[in-house]
Amino acid sequence: DPVLRDLATAKGKYYGTALPAGRLTGTHGSVAAAQFGSVTAENEMKWGSVEPTRGSFSWTGADQIMSFAAANGQKVRGHTLVWHSQLPNWLANGTFGNDELRTIMTDHVTTQTARYKGRIDQWDVVNEALNEDGTLRASKFYTQLGESYIADAFRAARAADPAAKLYINDYNTDATGAKSNGLYSLVQRLQAQGVPIDGVGFQTHLIIGQVPATFQANLQRFADLGLDVAITELDIRMTLPATTERLAQQKADFKAVTNACLAVARCKGITVWGFSDAVSWVPDVFPGQGAATPYNENYQPKPAYYGIAEALGWT
Ligand code: G3I
Repeated sequence: DPVLRDLATAKGKYYGTALPAGRLTGTHGSVAAAQFGSVTAENEMKWGSVEPTRGSFSWTGADQIMSFAAANGQKVRGHTLVWHSQLPNWLANGTFGNDELRTIMTDHVTTQTARYKGRIDQWDVVNEALNEDGTLRASKFYTQLGESYIADAFRAARAADPAAKLYINDYNTDATGAKSNGLYSLVQRLQAQGVPIDGVGFQTHLIIGQVPATFQANLQRFADLGLDVAITELDIRMTLPATTERLAQQKADFKAVTNACLAVARCKGITVWGFSDAVSWVPDVFPGQGAATPYNENYQPKPAYYGIAEALGWT
């Protein structure tokens, strides 16, 4: 079988996957190591995972992902520092003054980026900051601190790990439209303020047959701001069962997404949000849908896998 990480490297990109710390051994671990040149902890680097009790840290899962990546010569995308979801209960349910909340946030960013200083290729500093209409989401951080929480998070990350590329990451921003326009404006405001932002992550959770026609142009307009871009959480779900026809459509879609990144010089690479249908968030969240990844539940490559490889030049 073709090796996606090597094919991507030959094109000047990386091909990565999300990985849960509980799946680093067995078939899942060996395919992850062999095929992917970058990993993202699926949950283990989120705030709720690393600081379940205030001031008491739990780095085991995150450290396991870091060790796995080092052992296998893989880059790491750090995911994620400031997000409204998967916060620890003490923070989500606690009441804090504005100054205190700002310090809690910047201390968290500093602690986590410093721990892995020099070993993270890209950090998702701020995740899912936008509403569908392009306005800023009323997270605890935005509601209490205003838009400046974003600038403060990036500044704290840069100070603690100057080598990491700092990203803002979101979903449903793959096409041009209200949400992606809101992101574009936000990024321009951050740049105008001298905020140290390096890149924009496009999660790219898609449905078969619906790769946006504007996808490549949208990546390019962000790159034209002088930023890197990356596809950070790619999956392409379908209504089950996975018929031959649906799998063929999915192959075309994975190929199209991969080609879009290849066509944009500043697109650094692609991460799939899980590589096997055996381990995917999709069926839990979208009942009746699934089969969203390039390998089936038995770790056999699907047509989508060959679509990726073909886009990367494999014949
Ligand atoms: O760890 C517990 C386990 O002990 C328990 O038995 C089980 C029962 O439901 O839940 C387990 O926790 C789950 C965790 O994943 C680990 O499997 C949580 O309930 C579940 O909510 C959590 O879902 C994660 C989700 O983020 C949370 O928002 C998914 O794995 C993860 O793939 C998903 O990833 C997000 C990105 O971070 C951001 N973009 C969207 C993407 C998909 O939702």
